[in-house]
Amino acid sequence: MLICNNEAGMIASALDYTEKLREITPAIYGGRPKACVNTYGCQQNVSDSERIKGLLAASGYDITDNSDEADFVLFNTCAVRGHAEDRVFGNIGCMKQQKKQRPNMIVAVCGCMAQQQSVCDRVKKSYPYVDILFGTRHSHKLPEFIYKRLTGSGRIFDISEDFSGILEGLPVRRDGNLKGWLPIMYGCDNFCTYCIVPYVRGRERSRCSDDVVREAEEMIASGFKDIMLLGQNVNSYGKGLDEDINFAKLLRRINAIPGDFRIRFMTSHPKDCTVELLDAIADCEKVERHLHLPFQSGSDRILKVMNRRYDSEAYLNLIREARKRIPGVTFTSDIIVGFPGETYEDFLETVRVVKEVGFQSLFTFIYSPRNGTPAAAMPDPISREEKGRWFSELLLTQEEISKANYKACEGKTYRVLCDEITGEGRLSGKTSCSLEINFDGDASLLGSFVEVRVDRFTNVLEGTII
Ligand code: 5AD
Ligand code: SF4
Repeated sequence: MLICNNEAGMIASALDYTEKLREITPAIYGGRPKACVNTYGCQQNVSDSERIKGLLAASGYDITDNSDEADFVLFNTCAVRGHAEDRVFGNIGCMKQQKKQRPNMIVAVCGCMAQQQSVCDRVKKSYPYVDILFGTRHSHKLPEFIYKRLTGSGRIFDISEDFSGILEGLPVRRDGNLKGWLPIMYGCDNFCTYCIVPYVRGRERSRCSDDVVREAEEMIASGFKDIMLLGQNVNSYGKGLDEDINFAKLLRRINAIPGDFRIRFMTSHPKDCTVELLDAIADCEKVERHLHLPFQSGSDRILKVMNRRYDSEAYLNLIREARKRIPGVTFTSDIIVGFPGETYEDFLETVRVVKEVGFQSLFTFIYSPRNGTPAAAMPDPISREEKGRWFSELLLTQEEISKANYKACEGKTYRVLCDEITGEGRLSGKTSCSLEINFDGDASLLGSFVEVRVDRFTNVLEGTII
């Protein structure tokens, strides 16, 4: 772990405030206080929340999912699309009543939405019952913020961008015990013209490989079987680090850790997906045979305006190369429908790529203008209704493709990690190519790898352990 003095001081200060909070909160709340963390948006946010819950637990809080009984309620927010923001404001609004009934309660907002000056101003002005708001770089200061607020400070707002390092060694409280998130990098340098992420999460920075490998080892030693490596663009992992590392090499290092576990990763950017990486995936038996490879649009004209830095032919070549090098690989993708200036002909190019690749499934979004991004200033003449029609057409196309792909699984046998009990009391598990199969079995198999034959596809894959 490489730590400069400044960062060592910040870690010591964060831990110091957890102690201070542990001392003062029992008297304020008449016992151990409870904290509820509401998370919106992507896996990165879910992972950030696990680290925030680690700090809260270290500060003496019991973690609850029920905000009605919580003494501290946090909203960890997402800014990627507009409707997520609307939902958050609605839910923050519900805190007004609770705060009236329990004045010692602390309400806080953090994450990508909070990082925007406009949101910070709106909360300051119109949501007086929000005590604390902080951006994406200050999670480690949460115990300090709560302590200060509880000991007489006014409302606290901190979205400064003065620190964008990575603090290692702070506590984590993971939500599960089989499947776990492992962040390997933060931020994004790509500036796709529709996307708010580079503005709210800042420049790309990677964790040192020793820190990542150490955390993976700890997770495996404590029983985790499915490790999801996280970053906005994991393919460019290692950029700027003072060591001879890239994502392909990192995968090989984690794959070499002894034990029976699976390594997954997201998100990949097509422009940084190299043959070296494809070969590493093929060589590493613990790495999933699945690529989540967002292509966003099949129109070369739109891809250019989106600043994606590949064209549809380069994307399709990459898919062919991956299929050649990684037998059995499956693909999923993100697509935006109705980017400013997109025509129906452009949209049909997207449908063409979707048909040609044959994705397992898709994450599809109608374009949502984000203040401050270049695309938000571009002319956008197509109506929401028209975009909605294109969107439904895309969903129908993909539904047929997914069905055909699932049907083709019938009769095949897969190695599956049993990871959940379904509502019907059956087991559910994932294959290495990220297919989900339901089958009969009991809870004692949770966390084991078993061979499952797919019997049929109804609206899910159903199988039998062999
Ligand atoms: N509007 C709609 N979808 C968006 N995404 C990112 N920004 C926007 C936006 N402004 C989608 C992209 C990305 C996924 C995480 O969210 O498809 O890959
Ligand atoms: Fe946003 Fe593009 Fe970065 Fe993904 S790669 S987070 S879409 S800017």
